[in-house]
Amino acid sequence: MAIIFNEQNKTYTIQTKNTTYQMAINPFGVLLHTYYGRKIENDNLAYTVYDDMSPFTPKTEDIKGDEVWARIDHIPQEISCFGCGDYRESSVNVRHADGTMGLQPIFVSAEIKNGKYSLEGLPAFYGDEGETLIVTLKDRVYDVYLHLYYGVLPEYDLITRALVIENKTSSKIHVEKALSLNLDFNYGDFDLVSFEGRWAQERRFQRTPVAHGKNQIFSTRGASGHIMNPSCILCSKDATETNGDAYALAFVYSGSFLISASRNFNDNTRLVMGINPENFNFVLESDESFQTPEVAMTFSYNGFEPASQNLHKAIRNNLCRGKYKNARRPVLINNWEGTYFDFNGDKLVSMAKDASELGVELFVMDDGWFGKRDDDYSGLGDWVVNERKLGCTLSELASKINEAGLKFGIWFEPEAINEDSDLYRAHPDYAFKMPNRQPTLARHQLILDMSRKEVRDNIYNQLCKILDSANISYVKWDFNRNITDLYSCEVPAEKQGEIYHRYVLGLYDLLERITSRYPDILFESCSGGGGRFDCGMHYYMPQAWTSDDTDPIERLKIQHGTSFIYPVSTMGAHVSASPNHQTNRKTPLKTRGNVAYFGTYGLELDVNKMTDEEKAEIKRQVAEFKQHYELIQRGEYYRLRSPYEFDSLYCVWQVVASDKSEALVCAVKYRTEANTHPEFVRLRGLDENKYYKVNGGKIYQGATLMYNGLMLEQSWGDYESQLYYIEEVK
Ligand code: DGJ
Repeated sequence: MAIIFNEQNKTYTIQTKNTTYQMAINPFGVLLHTYYGRKIENDNLAYTVYDDMSPFTPKTEDIKGDEVWARIDHIPQEISCFGCGDYRESSVNVRHADGTMGLQPIFVSAEIKNGKYSLEGLPAFYGDEGETLIVTLKDRVYDVYLHLYYGVLPEYDLITRALVIENKTSSKIHVEKALSLNLDFNYGDFDLVSFEGRWAQERRFQRTPVAHGKNQIFSTRGASGHIMNPSCILCSKDATETNGDAYALAFVYSGSFLISASRNFNDNTRLVMGINPENFNFVLESDESFQTPEVAMTFSYNGFEPASQNLHKAIRNNLCRGKYKNARRPVLINNWEGTYFDFNGDKLVSMAKDASELGVELFVMDDGWFGKRDDDYSGLGDWVVNERKLGCTLSELASKINEAGLKFGIWFEPEAINEDSDLYRAHPDYAFKMPNRQPTLARHQLILDMSRKEVRDNIYNQLCKILDSANISYVKWDFNRNITDLYSCEVPAEKQGEIYHRYVLGLYDLLERITSRYPDILFESCSGGGGRFDCGMHYYMPQAWTSDDTDPIERLKIQHGTSFIYPVSTMGAHVSASPNHQTNRKTPLKTRGNVAYFGTYGLELDVNKMTDEEKAEIKRQVAEFKQHYELIQRGEYYRLRSPYEFDSLYCVWQVVASDKSEALVCAVKYRTEANTHPEFVRLRGLDENKYYKVNGGKIYQGATLMYNGLMLEQSWGDYESQLYYIEEVK
């Protein structure tokens, strides 16, 4: 049993393989949070809840006696609500029919179930091997219920949290804030690691102290976005890759979000996470409920590395679904950076033929094949094949590519619409627009109102028609702008605050319908690169385009940052041309390959223009990647050297097979200096006692490679890289 109720102590304790999470019901029914951290067996941890004597810390007046339990602004709780004495960042705000705001949630009941819960209409981790705890609380006055859902996957030290707000009053209420997680600590001296960025520079590692005040990571864009990722790591000051406390958290949601870490006057630290309350207001009629998405969290007392590894395994095995969750994914070539909009059917077939010679297995036709679309000013919304441009039907093109020996894949941007499109001319109301304003364009396009079933059905039918018309094995689902002009013409003014969330629910509904109708298609999510790289999308699509920046040196920071939360198997990574189209930097082809190996590895260039020497190198890479596929995609991932370390010249990543029989190390020199010395890199995760052959040559004991280190070959110049295959000698 992972979840244990102790009748005497009134505690609910969640035990995972290495961690303990505990809550306790206090004498007045308040659900305290008493502990989350390294495993502790069989104890009542509520003794750490102490009193606060400040006269400015309010106390519920009708509670007499033991004041420790009554000062709501100070005690650690499982849920926090504004209005009745807790001034910290709240996780739930409800406005009642009489205009008052506030909840005082009191314990009602709890239920422990086998299996991890699922959420209707929302992505969530799954697992019959897991367990669920549902704790029900009720406001002291109004019939408003809060159901706290805890899911446990003990093997990965994974705990999830979601919330249902239920209105059992006879009037309607307004839910103004409904965050999924409230994680309280009655001490504070933490750092917050987050993943910030911008288009083509996503998920860069950022570490800041949680000072007195609030530290917020958020998106108000209607998508998780490029700017900040819906994930973070709360860690002790001494935390490194291999040392210190690290709480890694990921929001399983693809819309606007808020993560707020705050520290109050008593150094109480609170981390809340959920749907961003900006432009959020849900009306609940009597007997209606609101379901939040879930947050997944894991804890490690040995630093970031085990926390990342836990999330990697859980995302790979208990979040991603479908055929390609485990099956080897084909090595693909995408024509975007090779041709942009300037292609026809013959050009694509010619690229496919050359790629086939190199061992590539899938050809992806990117943007520009449909409607009137030779640039990004028109066509979105019209998912009709432009046969004039292709010179044949889609089915014929797919057949020609199949005959060349490759599977065929296609690009869509289903949520977007250009004003210059037949769909817009027929249904201008399908796009988000405010009644009295000129809509704001981005990339010359608007966003479809996915909260409306009619709009979703239109797009679903158009997509199915295309997908049924040809032998299609892959879909890239793009989203090239964020939402503005949020207004849905179908709902009354009072419910407009629901639309941001209803958009995401609509998107998930569409994704569920499409992905379940086409179980053999490999889906890759994309949003102008990595603008919607989150656990919500990974539930429907096992991989996502990591960034539009394909420069391998830039990718070191991007993929390194991404790896703190997301596994290598989710990171779309392609070899592109040099000089790079985003940075104009020239890099060796080998380095472009080595960096893409630590992702899904594919190509994105015009193979027809490559020299024989370059083709031979790509052929070698494709074969090498396929040889190490299982190891790379399913191995334990280690960040041995960070590209963020100023003093280091190398970024070094490693993957190790779960049975420790083999490993792969990639070292990229991202800048050079004169008169350098050899670099030693201590490997991790090997078996101390096993012997390993390095690149088919010298043999070393595992302990030697881990404690004395691997000596990197010295190389000249910037951007050289080396790959070391480390194989057990039996
Ligand atoms: C943005 C994507 O990230 C690119 O890979 C490409 O698909 C373009 N959109 C096409 O418009």
